[in-house]
Amino acid sequence: MNLLVTGGCGFIGANFVHEQRRQYPQDRLVVLDALTYCGNLRNLESLSSDPGVAFVRGDICDADRVAQLLRDDHMDAIVHFAAESHVDRSILGPLPFVQTNVVGTTVLLEAARKAQVQRFLHVSTDEVYGTLGPTDPPFTEETPLAPRSPYAASKAASDHLALAYAHTYGLPVVVTRCSNNYGPFQFPEKLLPLMILSALADQPLPVYGDGQQVRDWIYVEDHCRGIDAALRRGRPGAVYNFGGRAERTNLEMVHAILELVGKPRSLIRFVADRLGHDRRYAVECSRAEHELDWHARWSLDDGLRETVRWYREHPSWCQSVQSGEYRTFYDRNYTTRLAESTEVAQCG
Ligand code: NAD
Ligand code: TYD
Repeated sequence: MNLLVTGGCGFIGANFVHEQRRQYPQDRLVVLDALTYCGNLRNLESLSSDPGVAFVRGDICDADRVAQLLRDDHMDAIVHFAAESHVDRSILGPLPFVQTNVVGTTVLLEAARKAQVQRFLHVSTDEVYGTLGPTDPPFTEETPLAPRSPYAASKAASDHLALAYAHTYGLPVVVTRCSNNYGPFQFPEKLLPLMILSALADQPLPVYGDGQQVRDWIYVEDHCRGIDAALRRGRPGAVYNFGGRAERTNLEMVHAILELVGKPRSLIRFVADRLGHDRRYAVECSRAEHELDWHARWSLDDGLRETVRWYREHPSWCQSVQSGEYRTFYDRNYTTRLAESTEVAQCG
């Protein structure tokens, strides 16, 4: 297969690209990424000499560029990760979320329809379902969408558009909705990497409100295998939930990290709560288990241990992200080739 992977320099996209290369070395991947503040080409650096992976710096809202890529590179399928993804940023400024998540997704869908791609895998989130009370059953794929943050609302809008393209035009769309991911390459503004790096540096750990908000945590590799299963075996027009069956409060997660890093709980600081903070997410993923034969393999304990190990063993990645140095990686490596006016290049 020829796969166009949008957002492949972000956290989950990069993990997906690495996983695909391990599983399907005969496939060809083109990564389209705008390299926003959280897009990091270093996440694909180890694939720099892999002829099966190409990188294109570009915006999914650029209809001409997307159409050209689908046409010239003969893409069979699109795996769509690119998004503005951080709830706190969406509260500070929703417009970029509408632009990339809603407009950008529609641009991609339209290009995919015209190019008649064989599969459009739209990566979404459990946050589109809204929030749960303490004893409510987990979200199923039939739970009505009730997003409550600008981020979740923009993702819900993109889900509706993706499914509308399936219904109206027969575009072979599959939508996946996953719970909170953790693992290598996650940008340290999200809870887990922020807490790991702060704890390693003896910095305060900011916990919003009372820290009793519940999330269902999944190791990113399990999510990537789920996306792969949905891409290759999912029913056109279907939605599949993925989760780790590992509900924990934020405070429990922070305690677990402090334990693994070997730092005291006195580093925790309770800070002002997030506006409109969703109290609980939980995901029922039995459809994916039955239809796709997908099962989460990582326990939370093992996944957290592996994640802490990864951040400890990659100080240069952490430093380049924390200092902002990672943002110059593209320019340092691509200036010459760009000057030669080719924007498709290997990843390193
Ligand atoms: P991320 O923020 O780490 O990465 C997003 C990537 O998209 C970055 O590389 C960025 O440069 C790129 N991008 C942003 N705007 C773009 C644009 N206009 N054109 C091209 N590229 C653009 O996000 P992530 O955590 O890897 O999430 C990936 C996807 O998975 C998102 O769609 C998100 O909604 C979804 N998701 C995330 C989680 C999670 O826990 N992180 C859970 C469920 C679903
Ligand atoms: P986050 O990683 O931003 O993911 P999401 O909001 O998409 O679930 O946050 C996970 C949880 O951790 C969420 O309930 C907010 C909370 N949180 C904190 O308590 N402190 C922090 O510094 C951050 C970033 C998040």
